Formats: sequence, structure tokens, C-alpha cells
Amino acid sequence: MKIDLSLIGMEKGRQYETIITTRNDDGSKNAAPIGVICAGNDKIINRIFKGSRTLENIMREREFTVNITHDPELFTTPIIGKLPQDSFNEDYSLKSIEAYFKCEVISLTEAIKQSDPIKKKDEAIVIKSRVSELTINRKTKALNGQFDTL
Ligand SMILES: Cc1cc2nc3c(=O)[nH]c(=O)nc-3n(C[C@H](O)[C@H](O)[C@H](O)COP(=O)(O)O)c2cc1C
Repeated sequence: MKIDLSLIGMEKGRQYETIITTRNDDGSKNAAPIGVICAGNDKIINRIFKGSRTLENIMREREFTVNITHDPELFTTPIIGKLPQDSFNEDYSLKSIEAYFKCEVISLTEAIKQSDPIKKKDEAIVIKSRVSELTINRKTKALNGQFDTL
């Protein structure tokens, strides 16, 4: 089936707030809130600060899962304390998630911004990816991002 992110309300050029899940090097699963920019029907861009586990995992595995949710708890729990391992499905999606998609990395580019609103003068990596699989469990729209990190 052709992948089309507009099915979950994502429009090219706009940013959305999501929960990205990745594989840790010990095989356990990690979740973190990360912004996603839609770059086409089956392409996305992330900008992830160095030092995060998510970035480390994506650079090693070259793949990750983007979870679409409006559950506010999922945007705070992975930051305050890690989500328990039983919150994840086998395929790395989160349990009872509205929709999710799998991504394969196309390119990784260094990015430095001096006056970032979140972290001042820090380094990040811009990641471009192709969406390889989209699963919609319930009709939903990706959460629009107010939090401009680019
Ligand atoms: C709504 C929201 C959006 C975020 N977006 C990003 C982002 O786009 N890039 C990034 O590097 N960090 C972003 N963060 C911060 C990471 O989630 C945070 O650094 C997290 O602790 C990283 O966890 P990890 O080390 O398990 O990857 C965001 C946080 C929130 C609450």
C-alpha cells in the first residue's frame, strides 16, 4: 500500500509533536517526545540534539518508530522517568496508540544553531527518513507543533 501521511493529518512543511520509540543497544525500548516535520507523503525530517538516547539509537539502528498520540502523559513521562517496558508492543509501537509509522534513515546531517529557544548554542543532527509502514489503529490527526526547534 502506498504510504500517505496526510491520512493522519500531516501536511508537507508543517511540524508535529510525536513520541519516537527506538531500540537501545541492550535490546530494551526507549521513548521520547520529538518533533517531526512532514517532508512529503512518505518523508519526514527530525532535528535531534546530541546527547539524547534517541539520537544515539537512530544513528546505530538507522530505523525508528513514530507514535501519534494526543495523550499528554506520554509527552511528560518519558522525560521525567522512563516508560516501563510493558508500555511497548513487540514492534516498538506504544500500547493503545492511535497511529504509528516506521521510518528508515535516508541521511544524517550535522546542524548547529546559536540561538536555539530550547538549548542555547548546541549541536544537533538533522535526520531525513523514509516512512516504510503506516498503521492507523483509530482515526486521528497528528498533534500540531507549537514548539519550533528548527
Ligand atoms: C513536546 C516536546 C518536543 C520535543 N522535541 C524535541 C526535538 O524535536 N528534538 C530534540 O532533540 N528533543 C526534543 N524534545 C526533548 C526530548 O524529548 C528530551 O531531550 C528527551 O529527554 C530525550 O530523551 P532520550 O535521551 O531518551 O532520547 C522535545 C520534548 C518535548 C516535551
